[in-house]
Amino acid sequence: EKGGYPHFMLKEIFEQPACLTNCMRGRINVEHDHVTLSALIDHRSKLLNAKRIIIVACGTSWHAGLIGKQMIETFCRIPVEVEYASEFRYRNPVVGESDVVIAISQSGETADTLAAVELAKSRGAFIYGICNAIGSSIPRATDTGTYIHVGPEIGVASTKAFTGQVTVLTMFALALADAKGTVSHDEYVKTVKELAQIPAMIKDLLKVNDQIADMARTFTYARNFLYLGRGFSYPVALEGALKLKEISYIHAEGYPAAEMKHGPIALIDSDMPVVAIATHNGMYEKVRSNIQEIKARQGRVIAIVTKGDTTISKIADAVIELPDTMDCLEPLVATIPLQLLAYHIAVCKGKDVDQPRNLAKSVTVE
Ligand code: F6R
Repeated sequence: EKGGYPHFMLKEIFEQPACLTNCMRGRINVEHDHVTLSALIDHRSKLLNAKRIIIVACGTSWHAGLIGKQMIETFCRIPVEVEYASEFRYRNPVVGESDVVIAISQSGETADTLAAVELAKSRGAFIYGICNAIGSSIPRATDTGTYIHVGPEIGVASTKAFTGQVTVLTMFALALADAKGTVSHDEYVKTVKELAQIPAMIKDLLKVNDQIADMARTFTYARNFLYLGRGFSYPVALEGALKLKEISYIHAEGYPAAEMKHGPIALIDSDMPVVAIATHNGMYEKVRSNIQEIKARQGRVIAIVTKGDTTISKIADAVIELPDTMDCLEPLVATIPLQLLAYHIAVCKGKDVDQPRNLAKSVTVE
């Protein structure tokens, strides 16, 4: 049932091209120039008139929510807040009839996320679910939603569900922006076309698996890791750090790269590997100077760069190349090598990657 892979996690990482194709099937048309989500057709006025969107989720799903926020704010110009469901539900939050609440959950059974949904519903908010498990509790409690359709996720560390969630959030932002008129037709078509190419890009990118397996061996000594990214890559840094700590039990933290100088730089020494997402986008020069600061303090840098990068490749200790894509779609590719890095480090350390200690696949208790 692991399809020839040693672990479900690796199988699920490699399934992502097929899963994301399934996720977009029937939603992005064959010409790749239009997205249709049935939830948006059925509840058009509710969604078009949302004054604010609040995303509630936990863990990896919360990271997908942070990317969704940037996506929705960029394309739809609606303010979005992203809340840990566990904090939202106990805070007497300001939420009401003009709000749309998006609940993101792979299992659809996470107790805190379900309770956040019930609370928001009782205050009159419109609830939109982004879930994987069909017919689970959260989709049943929502007004509408979009399944990610990535198939059952068995590995406790979430991989394909994360990229599926980000794909749905991207389609949601694009479809809503098109309906609202907050995106130009050219930008809309260009982004939809590029999104449709992402599964093929990931398929090609997965060839880095052997390179990362080799690289992982040289990083098993570390007790701490820092992950840095900016803009759309900041939540990817958080997600990369979470994957590593869950399955390898190495302490890891994700940070927006510019925050490094406000504290974490004090930690940098030769025992502290730093994974820096330094792709060719508006923030490239800034992340490059962060990398120089780390090298000046003998830190070891694993740089995630855009294919063909020559500058950062010279200063980093290890380099992983990503295909060139649009800024807003970068999380879908940048996540892949970070999943593989966490996986291989954990395997090298002899850890049980599919069943990490103390963790359950769905957290149905508080
Ligand atoms: C991380 C992980 C957890 C879940 C979190 C929410 O790899 O699996 O952080 O993302 O427990 O679970 P769902 O999405 O099922 O609500």
